[in-house]
Amino acid sequence: MTAQVQSLPTNINFSDRVSAALYGGRPQSVATHARVVNVSSSPVDIITPNTKVFGMGLPSPPPERDEEGCLPTIHTEPVDSLLRSGIASAALAAAAHQPDAEAAFFVADLGHVYRQHLRWTRCLPNVTPFYAVKANPDPVVLRLLSALGSGFDCASMNEINMVSEIGVDPSRVIFANPCKPTSFVKHAARMGVDMTTFDNVDELVKIARVHPGAKLVLRILTDDSKSLCRLGLKFGASLIAVPTLLVKAKELGLNVVGISFHVGSGCYDTGAFADAVARAKKAFEMGREAGYTFTLLDVGGGFEGERFEEAAAVLDQALQTHFGDCPEVKIIAEPGRFYVSEAFTLAANIIARRGPERALLEAETDDGNPRVMYYLNDGVYGSFNCIMFDHQTVHPIWLTVGKVLTDTSSWGSTSNQERTCAMASSSLWGPTCDSIDCVLANVSLPIGLEVGDWLGFRNMGAYTICAASSFNGFDRTKVVYTIGDEFVVENLLLQPTTTM
Ligand SMILES: Cc1ncc(COP(=O)(O)O)c(C=O)c1O
Repeated sequence: MTAQVQSLPTNINFSDRVSAALYGGRPQSVATHARVVNVSSSPVDIITPNTKVFGMGLPSPPPERDEEGCLPTIHTEPVDSLLRSGIASAALAAAAHQPDAEAAFFVADLGHVYRQHLRWTRCLPNVTPFYAVKANPDPVVLRLLSALGSGFDCASMNEINMVSEIGVDPSRVIFANPCKPTSFVKHAARMGVDMTTFDNVDELVKIARVHPGAKLVLRILTDDSKSLCRLGLKFGASLIAVPTLLVKAKELGLNVVGISFHVGSGCYDTGAFADAVARAKKAFEMGREAGYTFTLLDVGGGFEGERFEEAAAVLDQALQTHFGDCPEVKIIAEPGRFYVSEAFTLAANIIARRGPERALLEAETDDGNPRVMYYLNDGVYGSFNCIMFDHQTVHPIWLTVGKVLTDTSSWGSTSNQERTCAMASSSLWGPTCDSIDCVLANVSLPIGLEVGDWLGFRNMGAYTICAASSFNGFDRTKVVYTIGDEFVVENLLLQPTTTM
């Protein structure tokens, strides 16, 4: 098939094109931090499902980093358009013999992060989110959440520094790691980060020595048996241990201000929140007996996009039951996955293939055992570390087959796509030389997939980029951002950080 190349205007100024639409007549110089562009005249538009996307000789889309500002380029196109333009850009880069031309990339939908925040405030208006930076420390996401009024749950010195650098006031940070290096506690003290969790006597002794003015939050153990990641295996004091810990804190002259818990990350039993709040109430009573008046309840993370409304309703009911008559108690949470999981889509390139030729695959019966091995340029040592560390299973969609874009309308569901392709049992591997680097051991994929084709993976925003390594010299996957049609996000990102 020959490429259907259409002529493009040669003098597109992306920033100018959006100034009318987005800046509403404001001078262009207002946009000092982010360059928001609409790429609708980039290669995106001229790729149709039947267009061969390789070697089209098209002009390059705008660079992903704005040299003048501190934030990268922010697009306004829908995620799928950016997937298409990313694929087209890679084809151009390959034609120009650029190194790493076919690099995998994420598309981050900041509009989705914004909508998740609206969902949060609608369902839990009295619970202030302190976003768990560990889930995805993307600087643009942090900046957006800061502008939306979120606090931050930091687990380390570097995470404290990240939020401090974007102007977050230390009162909006909780150092929510119950077992911290002494030097990190000293650093928190220097930075004015006072709120921190503990669950053992040694931590109390450490904090008394290096951060005596800390506002301590006792993390209690709750039932996390219905969660993907059982954090209680490592952290949380049982209710039996609480009185002793509080007596010790009093002895050391420490200020314990409240209780925290975490029902486990990826919690699929909404009832866990009700049980945990009831336990927290008991811990509050123990606090009173030890001479403390607690004013903070931290209900942790564990919220998921899918069952959020249900979990929020259970939590809200439990809060009313146990803390409804305690207006002095401020309630915070540490959601991570909830905000970012569905906001990031990964596009990865098939860099190698081992298996019979297509004609043979078509002729042979598929007995369900993998017949083709595909190698992607992102793997378990990279963004797919979520398979190991976060117990995830990932689901590919095929963005191109035989180097031709598939119908974008089928990108929503794998089953739709399967109906239109001849399939073969296959396996998917990462790019490193380690055989543990297996993304999917047995997955049905189109027979027509070739080296150079692209696969997409939705819901890749949580616990992916943050734990990716550069093992074997493979770069971590870069991110392209869009606000979609949530233009309010642009204003939020452009807010001066000092006023946040
Ligand atoms: C202390 C703490 N808070 C919050 C979170 C975020 O949890 P989630 O992403 O499930 O909301 C975690 C996750 O490990 C955590 O350890």
